Amino acid sequence: MSDKKIVFPKDFVWGAATASYQIEGAWDEDGKGESIWDRFSHTPGKVDNGDTGDIACDHYHRWQDDLALMREMGLNAYRFSVAWPRIRPDGHGKVNQAGLDFYSRLVDALLEAGIEPYVTLYHWDLPRRLQDEGGWPARKIVDAFSQYTEVVSRELGDRVKNWITLNEPYVSAFVAYREGRHAPGHTNLHEALAASHHLLLSHGMAVPIIRTNSPDANVGITLNLSPQVAASPSVADRAQATWMDGYINRWFLDPLVGRAYPQDMVNGFGDAMEFVQVGDSETISAPIDFLGVNYYTRGIARSSQVSEEENAPRTVFPNDEFTEMGWEVYPDGMYQILGRLHFDYNFPAIYITENGVAFKDQVSPEGQVDDPARLSYIKRHLEKVNQAIAIGAPVKGYFAWSLLDNFEWAYGYTKQFGLIYVDYETKQRIPKSSAKWYGQVIRANAID
Ligand code: FCB
Repeated sequence: MSDKKIVFPKDFVWGAATASYQIEGAWDEDGKGESIWDRFSHTPGKVDNGDTGDIACDHYHRWQDDLALMREMGLNAYRFSVAWPRIRPDGHGKVNQAGLDFYSRLVDALLEAGIEPYVTLYHWDLPRRLQDEGGWPARKIVDAFSQYTEVVSRELGDRVKNWITLNEPYVSAFVAYREGRHAPGHTNLHEALAASHHLLLSHGMAVPIIRTNSPDANVGITLNLSPQVAASPSVADRAQATWMDGYINRWFLDPLVGRAYPQDMVNGFGDAMEFVQVGDSETISAPIDFLGVNYYTRGIARSSQVSEEENAPRTVFPNDEFTEMGWEVYPDGMYQILGRLHFDYNFPAIYITENGVAFKDQVSPEGQVDDPARLSYIKRHLEKVNQAIAIGAPVKGYFAWSLLDNFEWAYGYTKQFGLIYVDYETKQRIPKSSAKWYGQVIRANAID
């Protein structure tokens, strides 16, 4: 690590991120409907330890305390998501005013505290009823999402000026409908492909709705992006890396900028893709103001097809450093992704909407949580963000994942990503040493 001070551009946005199901709890309060994650986590065997988001961090009741902690840290932005089933308990139909009021109060209080709200409309908690009617693989969900977007942006659009339509459609489509690790837990490629298309279409339909209800707002979408590297120079491994890059990155990036779905992937999937209709491509590529990027690690592509003669020893990768998720710590990937976006895709602005790390944290006898490994992870990734800015990537802000330890989907509460420690028994919050350090970074607009 260098000892030179690394300064960020003036007006760089410093934030932290969360998602509704991961922190709120109050799963059936004040008129909220059931979501696919309520159902999934209530199904035995789906989540580690049988954990659920029923209570989670109890943020729904403790949001004022959490806001005080954000203030203490000096955040100038906070990214959170709206739980669709709080707003429309059965997906479409009656609007639940109590749900809107919750987010409206939060937005007012954030603005009052000088913290800019960045609102994600969909971070995976689909109303259960909509899944029963076909979920993302069924085209009619696009109307339901448009109506939901209309309600939320009409209510909050006067105050919220930064909108993210979807969080990681790759995960909502492929992890949920093909790999089955996320709600609703299906394993069907055709469903996953249809879901990916209807997610992108829903995004494209939502953009003009938000612009109408919030005329001077910035609108974007968040993708999880990650460089995919061949495990060896063999033809098969390199082909696998190209395939994985198509699967995770290009399948979503290309249609957003008006390129068709990548042909190598369409051929490889071998699906008729009859769900794509004339005009969809134009809808999906509605101009956006920024791309949100979630970056955690890279992928190493290993083919099972490497032929005998090619079965040479595979490259050994230098970074023998892994997180609690088993993910390699690879800060260079941040720079690689941002450089590629800048040179190959040309989005007008980019926000890092998530970056962070799970390590095992413990409370010391003095009641402190010291997490130097997290601090180091964030610091090294910020250095790479800074380097990407230096080559011209238009990165306007950075959101640490996550504000709080929270419900890490199928891993339940076993993975701690927070800058702030949460004791799930007492619900006590303890800012970790990384949170204090991050506060200094924000105040200095620089890292030492
Ligand atoms: C991302 C999700 C976020 C969190 C992190 C660790 O894929 O958007 O909710 O689970 O991973």
